[in-house]
Amino acid sequence: SSKSEDSLRSPICCIMGHVDTGKTKLLDCIRGTNVQEGEAGGITQQIGATYFPAENIRERTKELKADAKLKVPGLLVIDTPGHESFTNLRSRGSGLCDIAILVVDITHGLEPQTIESLNLLKMRNTEFVVALNKIDRLYGWKVCRNAPIVKAMKQQSKDVQFEFNTRLTQIVTQFKEQGINTELYYKNKEMGKDTFSIIPTSAISGEGIPDLLLLLVQWTQKTMVDRLTYSSECTVLEVKAIEGHGTTIDVVLINGILHEGDQIIVCGMQDPIVTSIRALLTPHPMKELRIKGSYLHHKEIKAAQSIKINAQGLEHAIAGTSLYVVGPDDDVENVKEAAMEDMRSVMSRIDKSGEGVHVQASTLGSLEALLEFLKTDEVRIPVSGIGIGPVHKKDVMKAIVMLEKKKEYAIILAFDVKVTQEARELADEAGVKIFIADIIYHLFDQFKAYIDNLKE
Ligand code: GTP
Ligand code: MG
Ligand code: NA
Repeated sequence: SSKSEDSLRSPICCIMGHVDTGKTKLLDCIRGTNVQEGEAGGITQQIGATYFPAENIRERTKELKADAKLKVPGLLVIDTPGHESFTNLRSRGSGLCDIAILVVDITHGLEPQTIESLNLLKMRNTEFVVALNKIDRLYGWKVCRNAPIVKAMKQQSKDVQFEFNTRLTQIVTQFKEQGINTELYYKNKEMGKDTFSIIPTSAISGEGIPDLLLLLVQWTQKTMVDRLTYSSECTVLEVKAIEGHGTTIDVVLINGILHEGDQIIVCGMQDPIVTSIRALLTPHPMKELRIKGSYLHHKEIKAAQSIKINAQGLEHAIAGTSLYVVGPDDDVENVKEAAMEDMRSVMSRIDKSGEGVHVQASTLGSLEALLEFLKTDEVRIPVSGIGIGPVHKKDVMKAIVMLEKKKEYAIILAFDVKVTQEARELADEAGVKIFIADIIYHLFDQFKAYIDNLKE
């Protein structure tokens, strides 16, 4: 491989859009996996990451007979949730990425979180393509599995083509109302200037997928080379215990290099965690980091990659925060300061009166989402305490304090976390309610039913 290829990192592509437009399904289609059907309620509630090596992308775009030779080693694709509660995760995803895919359901057009995503992309000046998904839903669509879109479109009846064009025109108009020019990608000569490209796709039958991949490739060749150079940046996606590996953290290395043995600093609930990397693990290429499987070991890893890190003391690491590598010239105290910054912003959202429910979530991202949701006008539940990870006895103790202050807030809202046996027993004994759910608005439903019941 050439010199430039060795010195470039992989671009990060974020996939964004309104809930249920087919973001996860599109990735499933590219990977040949079925992550979407395993999600609680069929909705994405975490950031996911998948690495696509250049080779696989070339393979999938073969039929287009275009030059799909990547100058970068591959593409890291970040999946984000479309549900309205997860603005923070969309923001984090769009903040990480070099380019984006904005997914629009052709049968729905632009929806609230399409516009929200669009505004995040505009704000950061991020280039994006529009995947106009679910074209197989057009009445009478003839399936041409995994075919390039022009070929698939030629197979369609006049009626289907007419319906497609009508919907396309409406959606182009809706984008124009948002101040964005768009055009079908194969008619777009302004690509990369002022007009964004639209690629019709089906995540179920695969039409348009080769086109989507090719466009991402050509684009990164043309525009990305300059920005894909070294400097160290890393975000913690998740903290979890893995059999045979102890507590590990899943991270996305956005820029720079990680080595086995590197000293790192991660944000903890109270204090920064200073440790060193024991093992650098990755899933096999084309596998989603969230899905369990065997791992590959590495001595060093270059960005961009999603990585599982094994190190001592990670039990209290907080997902959604930045990971810092301590360099030879760095002052450890300064790096510790920087590492705790993200936690401070969440702490500032807790009710100052000291009256409110206790909230426990699996990651900083989901905790932020939950706090955001509890603040909305329809919900308005004050929060007096927070925690990340399983509910322990000490969390129940905090809720017990509320029995004296304001009885109806002696509650723990547990989102996507386990409750330990001891915690459960103490809560039952003391009269603290624990509501558990893996979908945010189900927590609200339970809380509301409980409050209504108290009032009767
Ligand atoms: P969130 O992550 O929850 O925002 O949703 P998402 O955008 O990831 O959508 P998801 O992949 O969960 O798909 C939502 C539903 O639409 C699922 O039932 C999919 O099977 C279906 N779906 C997605 N893409 C297509 C498509 O191209 N055609 C058809 N017919 N159905 C699709
Ligand atoms: Mg999804
Ligand atoms: Na969904």
